[in-house]
Amino acid sequence: MSDTTTKLKKLATDVMEQAYSPYSNFSVGASLITEKGNIYSGCNVENISYGLAICAERNAIVQAVAKEGPEVKIDEIVITNKNGEGNSIPCSPCGACRQFIAEFATNQTAIHYQGTKGNVTLTMEELLPDSFSF
Ligand code: THU
Repeated sequence: MSDTTTKLKKLATDVMEQAYSPYSNFSVGASLITEKGNIYSGCNVENISYGLAICAERNAIVQAVAKEGPEVKIDEIVITNKNGEGNSIPCSPCGACRQFIAEFATNQTAIHYQGTKGNVTLTMEELLPDSFSF
């Protein structure tokens, strides 16, 4: 794991502690670095109207856009999670977040998360081949 990835993983783990997830008891953190070298982080934020939950990945991305503007490009993103017992479990980004990351990804964008056999790193194309586009 590169120094940058290690740093992103620590930041994702830190921001995960800010999660508002009283309904699922599942906390998620995401930290990304942009092509410009800026780092943004986000956690999941749930709502009593369950469908309104905002995933950690999308939280981090909207913060990047708010700071850097619409041209933002993600170099890499690390996603961490913790269940009610405090354990990290295998968990890949949800389908909606894959499409959302793709909007601000390049061919080189790397996505890191915990898979069933340990840490996984995939390119955007590997994580979401044939993403929606028109
Ligand atoms: N969640 C994320 O933050 N990212 C994902 O990619 C999948 C799911 C959150 C949403 C919800 O607050 C909780 O995890 C359980 O679904």
